Amino acid sequence: MFSFQRFSLFLFCSFLSLSSLFAQSSPADSIEIAIDRLMAKMTLEEKIGQMNQYNGFWDVTGPAPKAGADKFKYDHFKQGLVGSVLNVRGVKQVRALQEMVVKESGLGIPLLFGFDAVHGYNTVLPIPLAEAASWDLPAIERSARVTATEAAASGINWTFAPMVDISRDARWGRVMEGAGEDPYLGSQIAMARVKGFQGNDFRSPFNILATAKHFAGYGFAEGGRDYNTVDVSPLTLHNIILPPFKASVQQGVASVMNSFNIINGVPATANRYLVQDILKRDWKFKGVVVSDWGSGVEMIDHGYAENLSQVAALSANAGSDVDMESYAYVNHLKNQVTNGNVSVAVIDQSVRRVLRLKFLLGLFNDPYKYCDSTREQVYAMHPEHASVARDMARRSMVLLKNDQDLLPLKPAGKKIAVIGSLAADKNSPLGNWRLAAKDSSAVSLVEALDAAGVSYTYAPGVQLVAGGPVHFVQELPINENDTTGMAQAISVAKDADVVIMMLGEHGLQSGEGRSRAQLNLPGLQQSLLEAVHKVNPRIVLVLMSGRPLAISWAAAHVPGILLAWQPGSQSGHAIVDVLLGKYNPAGKLPMTFPRSDRQLPIYYNQFSTGRPGPKKEVFWSHYIDEAHTPLYEFGYGKSYTQFSYSDLQITPSKDSVSITVTLTNTGSLKGEEVAQLYIHDRVSSVVRPVRELKGFKKLLLEPGARTSIRFDLPRSAFGYFDAQGKWFLEPGLFDIYVGGSSFASLTGAVQL
Ligand code: BGC
Repeated sequence: MFSFQRFSLFLFCSFLSLSSLFAQSSPADSIEIAIDRLMAKMTLEEKIGQMNQYNGFWDVTGPAPKAGADKFKYDHFKQGLVGSVLNVRGVKQVRALQEMVVKESGLGIPLLFGFDAVHGYNTVLPIPLAEAASWDLPAIERSARVTATEAAASGINWTFAPMVDISRDARWGRVMEGAGEDPYLGSQIAMARVKGFQGNDFRSPFNILATAKHFAGYGFAEGGRDYNTVDVSPLTLHNIILPPFKASVQQGVASVMNSFNIINGVPATANRYLVQDILKRDWKFKGVVVSDWGSGVEMIDHGYAENLSQVAALSANAGSDVDMESYAYVNHLKNQVTNGNVSVAVIDQSVRRVLRLKFLLGLFNDPYKYCDSTREQVYAMHPEHASVARDMARRSMVLLKNDQDLLPLKPAGKKIAVIGSLAADKNSPLGNWRLAAKDSSAVSLVEALDAAGVSYTYAPGVQLVAGGPVHFVQELPINENDTTGMAQAISVAKDADVVIMMLGEHGLQSGEGRSRAQLNLPGLQQSLLEAVHKVNPRIVLVLMSGRPLAISWAAAHVPGILLAWQPGSQSGHAIVDVLLGKYNPAGKLPMTFPRSDRQLPIYYNQFSTGRPGPKKEVFWSHYIDEAHTPLYEFGYGKSYTQFSYSDLQITPSKDSVSITVTLTNTGSLKGEEVAQLYIHDRVSSVVRPVRELKGFKKLLLEPGARTSIRFDLPRSAFGYFDAQGKWFLEPGLFDIYVGGSSFASLTGAVQL
């Protein structure tokens, strides 16, 4: 049996941060020595075992499986042929499995326990795309901290988050999981999330390993159809897709997950260029690369490998260290070593990476570090987490429209109608990644109105979901026919002073495997909206959604629109805080809202064409049946107060450019504004986007107050990656824009 005492010399190894480890400080050297010693004792099978990850498959505290696939896996745990596991959670289960492996498998190397704690655990935070709309990095970090704290308290030490895929196509269901379309904002948020999950060191049993996923290009699936082909230019790869991964690595992220897709003809899991050359060599990433679920075996369907044995060699040689649920390494890697297709050195490098994380977490000192049932009771759902979730949800909301000053609502003496089945739904607001949370545990809008003492009449109108319990792995049946409830909703709306309509997508209409071809209000909701509008146009639409929707009709006809996204456990309370003006909304879109799904992909940092317009004749780049502009642009979002920008000054110096601007709160309420800085490289040897976000600042201003904002951009910020991934800085003239969205009109220029 493996003796932990022998490694007591290295106790201090757990008192480390990833950055110090990866900087190869002397404690890190001690870890490497400890790994050498351990690896010297390991057989090839045991080494390959560290590269094998299984999904949880039986109640660990119950009887052992007696036959079939379950027994096969169970035996592998006992034989030390598994290095990590996912979806085994709860202190009892984790402890039981860890104990079995530590006590009964050959060397007793502790397991890593992974889970998709993406936007919460028991307490569900807003979906990541919503959080990105806050542009509030400390709040996003705090949110990830809550997730880490709860997951860690229930035995998890590795989360498969943050998802840092940039995407320009709202049809792709997984846009809910990322930070939107911009590489700069995406990089800042990636770092905040990694920090939130991992903290500064691993002494704390509340810090867990994070995973930047999915490497790479997954957000560029053709047509927005999940798992589809990705074919992108090297310029898009280096300038748009890779920056958030690089930022995560610089922040010390512990692991990176391969994506499912092929990218430019090669599956990401077997992509040496991405994994070996860029990630491990150029970026010096020292953590673990884990495959996505079965992304190894899927290479056979991609037409890249003939069989699982080939999959094993291709993935291992490409630098994919851990095989999640493909059974390729555990069944075939040894043969591939024996027949010379994979070298022992390749195996050793991967095993070293896995063991490094285990040492770093201190699992050799205490394999049960995350198995404290008292901590589980206290922190699994700490009351403070509810207030973080509520605050994060409010910060995530985007006020899209507020004509007639319908908002903030003054409910006293008013007849308020609340319409929409989502308004009473306690499940949908949890969004997609909520596997640890109790079903239907969110505070609904109507519950929150009750709690706030607002009187209203509720009519669900048409149902969004057609019957049955909803399920994470099944298609959601949408009600397309049953109009029961429509007439009642119309009659309730008729008499009201104001109608709050909560419409949009169900939480399980976005996420993995949930691409949509149409971005309309699903089911019969558009008919409901139009029918209510006919009798009473004084509508505040609260839009619940996991992605940008095409809501042109609502934008043209409805005076108030609040984008709530899927706000998580505290959904209703946060929405009511915003509706009543207890919180002044300040969210800004991290992803363009199209006028129509037929405009997709649509994004702000596009290239100019040679025929920009508008022009009098037809020969310019546009559609004849739809505008080519967005409905709501990237960075857009209103407040209950107003802001103005003035006095733009641009001062170049040797190493940087300083840009100052005056921001004034010209309205009558205190409020926050996200001031955004964009650049445009007028002429360069590779054409550059019409605008690129390079900085932002979120500020709170009293009514009438003004403040000076200063951005200091290093000269390097004016460069770009060339097709080889080298940062390239060209002299020339650059436009600068500062304002409250990507349409910012205050502009100047600088010659560099
Ligand atoms: C998803 C990953 C996730 C993994 C494990 C896959 O289907 O693409 O994002 O981490 O499952 O649950």
